[in-house]
Order: sequence, then C-alpha cells, then structure tokens
Amino acid sequence: MKMREGFLWGGATAANQYEGAWDVDGKGDSVPDHMRGGDVNTPRQIDVTFDPNALYPSWEATDFYHHYEEDIALFAEMGWNVYRLSINWSRLFPTGEEERPNQAGLEFYDRVFDCLRSHGIEPLVTISHYELPYNLAATYNGWADRRLVDLFLRYGRCILDRWHDKVKYWLTFNEINAGTMTMGVTLSLGTLKGFTGTMDKVKDDINERYNALHHQFVASAGLVKYAHENYPEIKMGNMDCFILTYPATCDPKDELANQAEMRRMNWYCSDVQVRGRYPSYARRFWDEHNIDIRMEPGDEELLREGTVDFYTFSYYMSNIIGTHGDVKQGSSNMSFGGRNPYLKETDWGWQIDPDGLRFSLNEIYDRYQIPLMVVENGMGAHDEVEPDGSIHDPYRIDYLRAHVKAMREAVADGVDLMGYTWWGPIDVVSAGTGEMRKRYGFIYVDKHDDGTGDLHRARKDSFFYYQRVIASNGEDLD
Ligand code: BG6
Repeated sequence: MKMREGFLWGGATAANQYEGAWDVDGKGDSVPDHMRGGDVNTPRQIDVTFDPNALYPSWEATDFYHHYEEDIALFAEMGWNVYRLSINWSRLFPTGEEERPNQAGLEFYDRVFDCLRSHGIEPLVTISHYELPYNLAATYNGWADRRLVDLFLRYGRCILDRWHDKVKYWLTFNEINAGTMTMGVTLSLGTLKGFTGTMDKVKDDINERYNALHHQFVASAGLVKYAHENYPEIKMGNMDCFILTYPATCDPKDELANQAEMRRMNWYCSDVQVRGRYPSYARRFWDEHNIDIRMEPGDEELLREGTVDFYTFSYYMSNIIGTHGDVKQGSSNMSFGGRNPYLKETDWGWQIDPDGLRFSLNEIYDRYQIPLMVVENGMGAHDEVEPDGSIHDPYRIDYLRAHVKAMREAVADGVDLMGYTWWGPIDVVSAGTGEMRKRYGFIYVDKHDDGTGDLHRARKDSFFYYQRVIASNGEDLD
C-alpha cells in the first residue's frame, strides 16, 4: 500500500528552540527565554531575573530569524511540501496582555509564510508550542489562571484573521497532554509565579494542574469554534505527545496498570479534544486524586462545539509499565516507565520502537476515525563533523527508515495518514535539556552548548536520504 498522493512530507520546529532574536523588533521574553541549559542528569535552571554571566540557549538558538530564507531554501531542496513551525506568542504580544499585536512581529511571519509559499511549502502552524509570554507565567501563574483563556483567544483570533488564507493547517497547543505530567508545569502550563530554581523543583499541585489543563481545553475549543465559524476552509488539529506503554508481563494487574497509564497519558486529552467531552474514566481519576474541575457554565457546550478536524501527535519512544517492582528504570529524562529488553535506545536513553508507531497509529485511528498526522518523530544524537566538513549519521537514517516503514504498514492496515514532519530537521535547542549537542537535524548548525559557533549550515548524509524518501513518496527506503 502506498502513501496517499499529496502526502505531506516535511519537518517541525518550535520558535523558542529555533528562532533566536529573543528581544529583537519588540519581542517580549517567553518562559524558555528564562531557562538555562542543562543535560540529561542536570535539570534546567529557571531564573526570574537574568544572570549576566549565564547562558540562555533560546536567546539566539539557531537563529532562524536571520536565516529563514537560506533555511527554507534547504527545506525546499529536500523536497518538502509542508513545514510545521510555531508562532512565538510573545513576538506578537510581548507581555501577553497587549490589546494590539506588535507590527514588526506580524511582518516577520508574513515574510516567512510568503517565502514558504514561493517554494511550494504549506505551513502548518502550532499556535502555542511551549512559549508562553513570561509575564503570564510570572504574574498570572500561567494556565492556572482562567484569564489566560481570553488572552489566548485574543492572540489566536488575531493570527487566524491575518493568515487564514496563507495557512491551512493549525494546531492549538503542542503536546497538550504534557499537562497530565508533573513536568508539564513549566513549559506547557507555565505555573511559575515567582519561581526561581531548577525545573524539577517547580511546585506541582495536581488539582491546579488539571484545572490549568481544563483552561487549555476551553481555550482550544473556543478557538476551534471561532475558526470553523469564520474560516471553514482551514483545518484545526490537536497535538499530543503519544508515549506508548506496554504491560511488563502478562499479569492482568500489569495490564490494568498499563491501561490506566495509557488513559492518563495518551487518551485523556484527545478524548476531550476529538470527542468533545471528558471520558467516562475521568470521574474516578479525579476522585482518587482529589481533583475538582472548576467547570463554568458553557464549558461543556464549548468543548462539544470545538472539536478538532484532525489528530496529530509526536512519537519518539515507548516504555513499559509493571506492578512487580522489578521493572528496570530507563536512563532518560523521559523514562516514565521502564526498560524494554527488546528495544535499543538513543544516546539520550529514549527507547526506539518503530513497531510501536504502527501500533499507535492503528489504536488512535480505531478510536477516533479522523485523519492523523505524525508531526514529530526523530532522534537526538551526538554528531561528529569530519575534517572535510561532512557529517555521517547512519543512525539517524536507520531511525527514519524504520519509522517510515512502520507508517507504510499502518497505511496498509487502513489508517488515514495525512503526513509526516520530522522533529528538528535542522539542529535546534533541546526543549528538555536545553542542549545543542542533542542534535536531531538533517541540517547541521555550527552552534555549541557554550554559545560558540558561526551558525553556518551543512547538509548531513541524512539530508540526502530524506530527499530520496520524499521524491519516492516513501517507497525508496534502502
Ligand atoms: C517534544 C517537543 O516533546 O519533543 C519538542 O514538542 C521537543 O519541543 C521534542 O524538542 C524533543 O525533545 P527534546 O527534549 O529532545 O528537545
């Protein structure tokens, strides 16, 4: 079975990890601008006030802001017909509270969308990708404050009004289900009022967290409804971080534990955003965790009216869940479950599982029956630059090949798959660790963890491989 004609092939980035120009042309600071770099064992430090001696990796990142023409030309050379990018909320609304958007910020994205169109590349835009204006985190306590719903809607309507004819595909929140995890409090929910310290120490109150998530559901539904009413030609999607888990053994207790984990992590948010209501299992989960959702009049109706048109997700790894206490823990910053002896892992300990992608695509499609898109998939690795400047990355090619094969199998299984965007097709700052050395790109950027580098771009071997994959619509994989 072949990928559909017009299958969307491309890559995905986030403004805060790629754009740089953090204070240029009127941009305000966002949460990641307040975060220093760390590594797999060292959580990132969040500062209220900037330390002049510290390095904040998002400030320059890999400087798409000043390289966008060169970079988009490289994307076009690979054969892309889609590019998933995010708009940096604080580039348009520096504190998140302004009545009117920053003109220079709007004009930057005008130029980017026009450049993409001139290369025949369709933009797919994430409206909020881990880049809340810092003021909304620091003074409002992020999404825990319901007022963010209206501030988000102001921002969201502004960009839909301006670009509905240039951008057909939109995603409201990146990895909205990050809010079901403790780590979601920083980048996703921004409940940071007054907080200085390392990421792992941000206060987590589960009741507040699930209420903050409820506010995001309401905001997302409100914007989807607005889009459907005003611009019926555009498509609105959700975006989940799908981390498949398997039961560690065939003990029914492991299966039940895994079911609970799959519901919390992978189904809770999309059940709301695709079906338009909280799932039946939510009530018991709330009761057992003392969560009291502050539902306001009209919320339930809005959730019903603001369901998405397509489902998108990131897929990097799988984990295992067991109840026997003998599950070996993984070594990564994302190992919520345990080590699977059948799988290899990346340099950062993320377990590589292409069959899990096929399985996940089938499960998701069975459940929702709407078009799906893989909007993030990739591997972070150490890359070596050879003396002649070339970069050989067979590990990345193997990863890509295996996952494209898995998607082809899923399509043969009957899944309606729209497209695929590789995460970090050009080297960007890692969201989790703030590192540069954790590289995902087909395009190398000369930028290092100590802030040095001349930012020149270079094609890795995987660049030419992806070019071939796209030219053959996923057929030529050897
Ligand atoms: C996803 C995020 O969680 O994974 C991206 O949407 C992120 O923003 C990507 O960069 C990879 O994670 P990391 O921590 O390796 O950058």
